[in-house]
Amino acid sequence: MESNDTAHRILTTRSEGHGGRLTVKLSMTARSGEQTLKERYNVLKYDLGMGYAMPEGLRSLIPKNVPPYVDQGENYVERVMRALFYFKQCSLIGPSGTGKTHIVYLVAKIAGIPLWEINCGLQTSVYDLFGRFVGLGKENWVDGQIVSWCRYGGILYLDEANMMKQDVATKMNPILDTRGHMVLNEKDNEIIPRHPYGYVIISMNPYAAEFAGTKPLNAAFRRRMSVWVDFDYLSVGTKVSENEVKLIAERTRLPLAIAEKMTRVAAEMRKRYKNGDIPYAPSVGDLVNWGTLVADGLSPRAAAEETIITLTSDDAEVQGTVRRIVSMVLGTEDEVGEKVETS
Ligand SMILES: Nc1ncnc2c1ncn2[C@@H]1O[C@H](COP(=O)(O)OP(=O)(O)O)[C@@H](O)[C@H]1O
Ligand SMILES: [Mg+2]
Repeated sequence: MESNDTAHRILTTRSEGHGGRLTVKLSMTARSGEQTLKERYNVLKYDLGMGYAMPEGLRSLIPKNVPPYVDQGENYVERVMRALFYFKQCSLIGPSGTGKTHIVYLVAKIAGIPLWEINCGLQTSVYDLFGRFVGLGKENWVDGQIVSWCRYGGILYLDEANMMKQDVATKMNPILDTRGHMVLNEKDNEIIPRHPYGYVIISMNPYAAEFAGTKPLNAAFRRRMSVWVDFDYLSVGTKVSENEVKLIAERTRLPLAIAEKMTRVAAEMRKRYKNGDIPYAPSVGDLVNWGTLVADGLSPRAAAEETIITLTSDDAEVQGTVRRIVSMVLGTEDEVGEKVETS
């Protein structure tokens, strides 16, 4: 990211005074930025967008400003891009908050291709996802997101794929074959072949089962996924990741010592979440929210009340559990020096 910005600055500065060449140089900047990302994540080999002719109007579906993805040698970005490069589809498994959605955005950005994101847990109807007639007359057909993806290409991201409604899954099955196609029975049986640059990523949370009543993934879906990438939190239980601590400190500008304690709280909560004791555990993003309030001057404890404690559950008992974890890690005195009442 930093080197990307540097390249941008250098090129912009160099082009000062040569107004006529400015646009050319800026588009070169964008390309060299993507190049830098490809090097950074070691994915030069897996060019998912090479030769893709971007249809007009879809450029806005390419994610922008995606923060860096941090791991500790798992090379998640590389693994996902390799899977898409060889098999056109890939499955991401892991608890909520481990960066699955983040990585999909990053992959689409690096590849420079559109992202079609569908949250299957929202129970969106077949008509919304595939398309429908609006008003009267056969001319007024409007493609849904899945049909648009099939026609124009890009990454179709099916979040919480195991929550997908059966009628949607049934319609999806034939297109999960890489050389598959879609038949729009509703629309004079129009046949749409799967776009050669049409990639699919599905994600699932194996720990949601106890709380959200999720089902196992549809068997036809499972058979068509060639690669499964397992995600986990950077820190869990007694394992506290230095990289996560640094990430929190950088994104909140808090001292490492505070970021470390916050990460320890998260690690303990994640362990309990995986054991089925609490219904949610904080992600890096949730810790950044907590830290943002601390950086603004709230005590870590008060800031925890407004963020991770209430975020976890509305249930008073669960909130009590999280509060005890926070107290256990922070001790009796807050990092900002403020005395804390004990009851
Ligand atoms: N490894 C990571 N590196 C950087 N940010 C991360 C990482 N993992 C999670 N995050 C951040 O945590 C938050 C939750 O991630 P998200 O991608 O929504 O998780 P998931 O889709 O697995 O539930 C986001 O703000 C994301 O940027
Ligand atoms: Mg997600």
